[in-house]
Amino acid sequence: MKNIIITGGAGFIGSHVVREFVKKLPETTIINLDALTYAGNLENLKDIESEPNYVFEKADITKPEELRKVFEKYHPDAVVHLAAESHVDRSITDPNAFINTNVIGTANLLNLCREFWTLNPDHTHGRFPDEPRKNLFYHVSTDEVYGALGATGFFTEETPYDPQSPYSASKASSDHFVRAYGNTYGLPFVVSNCSNNYGPNHFPEKLIPLCIHNILEEKPLPIYGDGKYTRDWLFVIDHARAIFQIFHEARTGETYNIGGWNEWQNIDLVKELIRQVDEKTGKPSGYSEKLITFVKDRPGHDKRYAIDASKLNRDLGWKPSVTFEEGLSRTIDWFLENKEWLDNVTSGAYQDYYRKQYH
Ligand code: NAD
Ligand code: DAU
Repeated sequence: MKNIIITGGAGFIGSHVVREFVKKLPETTIINLDALTYAGNLENLKDIESEPNYVFEKADITKPEELRKVFEKYHPDAVVHLAAESHVDRSITDPNAFINTNVIGTANLLNLCREFWTLNPDHTHGRFPDEPRKNLFYHVSTDEVYGALGATGFFTEETPYDPQSPYSASKASSDHFVRAYGNTYGLPFVVSNCSNNYGPNHFPEKLIPLCIHNILEEKPLPIYGDGKYTRDWLFVIDHARAIFQIFHEARTGETYNIGGWNEWQNIDLVKELIRQVDEKTGKPSGYSEKLITFVKDRPGHDKRYAIDASKLNRDLGWKPSVTFEEGLSRTIDWFLENKEWLDNVTSGAYQDYYRKQYH
């Protein structure tokens, strides 16, 4: 493939995916298409921004005319779609932003892919499942589409969809649209549904970076409800590796769950963060535990997520390469070494700078 568009490449996971593709596919132009919302930060890609096979295009997926310009300029062979509103709490206060970006934005991309690939006689494509693949729409999705688990059990690729928040409903809807375009128009696609990511570039509205930031600033660590909610955590670079592998090796029309086999109750996770951050910053053991503050619960809070990623392991041999202890340690080190990044994204000044550059 000559040209691959990665949407949302300036965000947390997208920046790691862009880096993975740019480094591993030197003959392919990787187009990072991103609107640079509050969550998008080109500083995340500083180390690769001058690579000859990397380009950035500022475009908003909710605006079909902006997307069309990028499609006409590059005639992409594939789209890896990560651009989204991604924070559950924001979806509770402003669901429309999630409907617009995650549902309508995804449909806008699908319409262009259909036009450029399946309706274009000059641009033959592999209809799934058996023809050789010329094009691919890869939808990066979440385990939250499956709803919430009780104390036991795992989400598999067969688990029925049961989204509970406006965020997960918007992602479930976009997953359905991707599969519907595959079924109806023969659009070649794959979908992956991943558990909670953590690592460098994580925006400090999410639990792990928020707590690292607040421990460093000696601010309260807000724990929703009783803190016994459970998430499965995966180091972001392992997610990016999985996406690269699925992109190349999965059969068209496939779905893969991606997870870390690494469940933590929030309260235990925050205590582990305190332990590691205190140790690294020379504080006495348990010093920052006084910052733990139980606050009002998230409405509709999903009790537990746990991914069964054995299909991905069985079919493609993927497994996480980084243990949780090592991943957390690398993440904390990154935040300690990138205080300026943290100050910039929390102040918004840096984003304003980039926004002006590309207007
Ligand atoms: P993020 O919020 O850090 O980044 C989102 C990116 O999308 C930003 O760069 C933003 O500027 C861009 N964007 C938002 N709206 C846009 C629009 N209208 N047009 C163009 N670009 C736009 O998100 P993330 O945590 O990196 O998540 C990336 C994807 O992975 C999302 O689709 C999310 O649903 C999915 N996902 C995330 C996790 C996780 O733990 N964070 C887990 C599983 C799946
Ligand atoms: O499971 C995958 C999903 O993981 C992704 O699809 C989402 O994009 C991503 O944001 C993440 O969603 P969560 O809601 O699980 O992540 P968050 O970091 O917001 O919350 C993790 C857990 O911590 C959750 O149970 C809520 C709780 N929490 C969160 C925050 C921000 C707190 O107790 N206090 C907080 O301040």
